[in-house]
Formats: sequence, structure tokens, C-alpha cells
Amino acid sequence: MSQFWKPGTERPRLIDDEEGGVLFYSTSPLSSSSSGYGFASVEKQRQRLPVYKYRTAILYLVETHATAIIVGETGSGKTTQIPQFLKEAGWAEGGRIIACTQPRRLAVQSVASRVAEEMGVKLGEEVGYTIRFEDVTNTDLTKIKFLTDGVLLREMMDDPLLSKYSVIMVDEAHERSLSTDILLGLLKKIQRRRPELRLIISSATIEAKKISSFFSPSKRRQALLTEDHGPNAEPAILSVEGRGFNVEIFYVEDPVPDYLQAAVSTVLSIHDQEAMGDILVFLTGQDDIDAAVQLLSEESRNGQNQGLIILPLYSGLPRAEQDLVFSPTPRGKRKVVVSTNIAETSLTLEVIRWQKKGIVYVVDSGFSKQRFYNPITDIESLIVAPISKASARQRAGRAGRVRPGKCYRLYTEEYFLKEMSAEGIPEIQRSNLVSSVIQLKALGIDNILGFDWLASPSSEAMIRALEVLYSLGVLDSDAKLTSPDGFQVAEIPLDPMISKTILASNQYGCSEEVITIAALLSMQSIWISARGTEKELDEVKLRFAAAEKKALEVREQLRRIAQRLGIVLKSCEGDIQVVRKAIAAGFFANACRLEPYSYNGMYKTVRTSQEVYVHPSSVLFRVNPKWVIYNSLVSTDRQYMRNVISIDPSWLREAAPHFYQHQQPNPIAH
Ligand code: CDP
Ligand code: MG
Repeated sequence: MSQFWKPGTERPRLIDDEEGGVLFYSTSPLSSSSSGYGFASVEKQRQRLPVYKYRTAILYLVETHATAIIVGETGSGKTTQIPQFLKEAGWAEGGRIIACTQPRRLAVQSVASRVAEEMGVKLGEEVGYTIRFEDVTNTDLTKIKFLTDGVLLREMMDDPLLSKYSVIMVDEAHERSLSTDILLGLLKKIQRRRPELRLIISSATIEAKKISSFFSPSKRRQALLTEDHGPNAEPAILSVEGRGFNVEIFYVEDPVPDYLQAAVSTVLSIHDQEAMGDILVFLTGQDDIDAAVQLLSEESRNGQNQGLIILPLYSGLPRAEQDLVFSPTPRGKRKVVVSTNIAETSLTLEVIRWQKKGIVYVVDSGFSKQRFYNPITDIESLIVAPISKASARQRAGRAGRVRPGKCYRLYTEEYFLKEMSAEGIPEIQRSNLVSSVIQLKALGIDNILGFDWLASPSSEAMIRALEVLYSLGVLDSDAKLTSPDGFQVAEIPLDPMISKTILASNQYGCSEEVITIAALLSMQSIWISARGTEKELDEVKLRFAAAEKKALEVREQLRRIAQRLGIVLKSCEGDIQVVRKAIAAGFFANACRLEPYSYNGMYKTVRTSQEVYVHPSSVLFRVNPKWVIYNSLVSTDRQYMRNVISIDPSWLREAAPHFYQHQQPNPIAH
């Protein structure tokens, strides 16, 4: 059994492990000159963080244990400090470096620049980061590298034992993102081959026991391990006591009919009635956040609510706008950050304790956008769904960082107590697994069903994924990666259907066009609807220009990957038919047929006969060609197909003869 620590004593203490080993931690104070830089204020800020007191304990645990699990509330300094402690203690010497993973791209960029700033170094040198299509590291100089968990998984394809890292910190493990779960399973395997590798798993919630028993070796293995004097294989758990202030919770008396409207009026009444202090509003996604920002801006323009600075925060937000969120609130103003659940744990908004500046009020809609995959219908949708109690507590906690705060929950207490689930469902149990399966296969994990999962995905989802990959020609009938197609598809860091389209474009002589499309599809926010005032339109143009530049960069990288795979870069010079054929070769599984005699444009998916419709923003809306292929579905009142092209049904059988034979004997005749 592993230990759960709540150290609170001043002096070092010895604790007996049930298994016989002895663990201890100490809280000896540190010399303040540790970083060697003359930025007293930064150093002071670091020392004020709760993890600072645990520096020695953390380093001791990392030294002596293969796996250390560190639990501490958001803002206690886990992400920004622990990698620095490790570096100061010499873990980035001797040619190996320190990795810290995050589930979210935005968090990777933000913590990397914060740490570079604290260390007084240029971002991309000693401290760097890597997210998909963006590598800001230097092979010779980088010692601390922040990266998404997905990027670390990709690195394993070239370096299966992740041998360039001495310590890997898997941060925000409580989020249980798809890639985090897969990563933890693989790291457990790597640990057996590399006993010297150290893992730190950090989490903002107490769910640590599950992860601890996952990393706990069997008794037999434990016996073998103690003989060779390596680090203790039993994970250690350390709980970092936060210094959060009390947060008073308010519930609505009756359920609110419209959380967006309710959130807006709650913000306005806080501004009207409560003392100064910033407000953090949790909504679900870009759409409702933009709407709320719009409503609040209108209110603050019409006089009464001056002094509000209203800022959106979500993953696809351009850099300049993100920076506003993290910058200090000017005197006499009140900042309102309207965010997705990204602000729940993975980002620290600006906090200046001694000036008592920062978030003091939280407005919690009780919802977040979550991915749900239904293996029966084979449809994955982002759905606005109720959050868990664990999330609700995290959200409330954001209000108590600088002084006692208040959290306004836009749901009833009864609902919280009786209906809200205790914890969220791990993403792996609600996702389409096509990308994960191909990655595991590429890493040589043949028996995917028997993989050591922290939480097993459903066998239906697994079978669906295998089926799609088989039909794409990526897996053979023994479920092994095919050569060269399977390996090449795995090599391209995109959804396998898009990767397959890129491969097919080589045959059709339209790789340039297809790569451009792939680059655009990989951008989250290039499509921006333009309405509003002149000033807003100017902002939209700027955003578009930024996204366009980014898309060009992504395209350049994809062209390089394609060339490496032997794809000839060639344009079809306007012959759009071949581009559509290449898309059909990758996306045939998303084929839909217009219902005969349909008066409202209803389509049915060929595979599972689900009702779907062309999205009103599509140029094919109301055109309703007989056969279409979509790139993605969005569900609102209906399932809408986004990014739709019309096809000739004969291409489907050409692209995937097996698939269309197995799925439906003769779907094409009508
Ligand atoms: O990871 P954890 O939530 O435990 O904390 P952290 O992200 O390491 O943040 C620790 C402190 O660093 C915060 O309280 C902020 O004062 C500061 N910080 C910041 O100012 N800007 C950032 N981008 C990240 C952290
Ligand atoms: Mg953190």
C-alpha cells in the first residue's frame, strides 16, 4: 500500500511503510539564492507558493521512488515550480532533460513562458515547449520541456523508451484526458525497461489512489526489485497543503432556464453590489462565451456598468487575446474572464496576493463541453453536459486564491447534492479510439484489448476503431499495421482519415490541394463569422490573419512530412474532381445518402443509418446533393454535417470495397 501524506509538522518525520520500507519527508528551509538570478521579486513570489515548503520532500521522493504522485490545489505551484526544483537538483544534467506534459496546448505555452520568465531565460532555449506543429525547443540548450501529452506519445514513435528524459512529469492527471490515460499505461511499461526513469504524476484532486495502485508493482515484482537497489517501485503520494481561503457558495433557488442569461445577470449584480475583485465565469465553449462577452460589453457600453474589462478565454484564442487575460487588472477596474473549463485547473490567472488582486468571484454554469462517442451510431459529438462535483469544487476553489471569495452556482443545492456525479468519466471511455489504436499499434502494442488500461475503453468502441482502420487499409486482417500504408498513416500527426486522404492524393496528383485542406482542418478557429461593429470586424480580420499565418506554417510542415514519406508534391491545377476522389478515399466511412423524397434535407449515414443534415453554414446547404461525405458532425438540435463535399457513390466502392460489402450488402443501389 502506498502512503497518503498530509505533512503539517515542522520537523522531519519518519513514516513506516507497511511493506517494510521507510519513507520520510523533511521540510527544511531553503536558501533563497537557489536560482542564481537577481530577480528578487520573482524569487519572493516563488517562495510564497505552497509547494516551496515541500521542495526537499518532493526532491527526496523523486530521488527514492520511481513514481511520485503529487496532489495539490490549483495555483499551489506544481506546474511552474517542480520542473525548476528538478533542474536545480541536477536532474537535467548528464544529457537527459525534464519533461512536463499538459493535456492542453494553451496551458503548455502559458506555463513555459512563465517558467522561462521566472528563470530569466529566453523561451525556446533552456526552457522550451512543443505542441503539435510548433516546436519551440533547442536540442542543445533545452533542459525543461513542456509539451502536450499527445506530443509525448508521438515522440515515442521515434524513441520508444523516451530515453532523452530523466524525469517525466505527467501534469493535470486528474483530467484523465485520452492521451494522459494512454501515456500512463505506456510509461508503466517503460519504467520496467528503464528503472532509472522517474515519473511525477500531479493532480489537483484527491483521485490519486487509483493512479497509485495502477503504478504499484505486484508483490512478486516488488521482491525482485528490492534486490537491485533501484528506486522504490512503490509510488509515494505527497499532498501539498494549499493556502486557499474560504469560498462561500451560493446556489440558485430554482433551476435557471438559460444559464447564459443567468451568468450575465449574475456578473452584473456582482459588479453592482460586491467589493472590487475579478470575476471568472465558467461557460462551455467559444459560442456561448462570445455571446456572453457580447452581452456584457453591450451592458458596459450603455453606461451603468463601466469599469468592467470583459475577456474571453478558450483554447483556440489567438495569442494576443490570451495575454490580456493573464495581465494585471488596472486600478479601479474589474476584470471579467469568461472561460471554458480550461480555467478550472490547467491555467493560473494572474494572482497578486499582497495586492489582493485576482479572481475573487466565480460564476459556475454547471456545464462544460464534453466529448461523447457512441460506438453504436459511430458518432462522436461535443455535447454541453453537466460537470461533476469534483469539477464544481475546482471551479469554486478558483475564487479563494487571494482572499475569501464567493462562488455563484447557477444550479440548485439539491441538484448538486443529489444529481451531480462525483467524478467525470475518463475521456477514453467517451471517445472515438481510431487515433489511439493506430498509435498503440505503431508503438508495437499488438494486443490492444489486453493493454494495461487505467480505465478500459468499451469493447464496442475498440471494435469500431479496428474496423475503420481495417477498412482504411491501415491494419491487415491480423490487426497488424500494413506496410507501407499503415506505418505512413501513423507517421502523419493527423486524424487517420485525413492522413489516408493525403496518401491517396499522391495517386490522384493533388497532394498540394489536399495538404492545404488538411492544414485548414487542423486549425480550430480559422472560420470566424463576421458580424458586429466596425471595430469588431477589424478584430475579426486580425484574428483571421493570425490564423491564416498559422495555417501556412502547418501546411509547410505537412508538406515536409509528406515528402519524407515519398509523396510527390503536385497540384491538380483546378481539377477538383480528383481532390474529391482523394477525400472519398479517406473519409468513405462518413458517406451519407439523401433520403429519397426527403422534404427537409434529411440524410442518413451509410454505415449506421443515423439522421444527419447539412450545416446551414455550408455552401451545400439547401443544395442537398444525393451523396455527400462530411468531415465532422456537430450536434445541436440535430446532427449537422460540417465541411461537406458531394461525391459519386461509385467512388465509395472503389475506395473501400470490403467496407461497403461488409457494412451493407448493396448500399449504393437506389
Ligand atoms: O500547477 P499549479 O496549479 O499548482 O500552480 P502553477 O501553475 O505552478 O502556478 C503557481 C503560481 O504561479 C500562480 O499562483 C501564479 O501566481 C503564478 N503563475 C503566473 O503568474 N502565470 C502563469 N502563466 C502561471 C503561473
Ligand atoms: Mg498546474
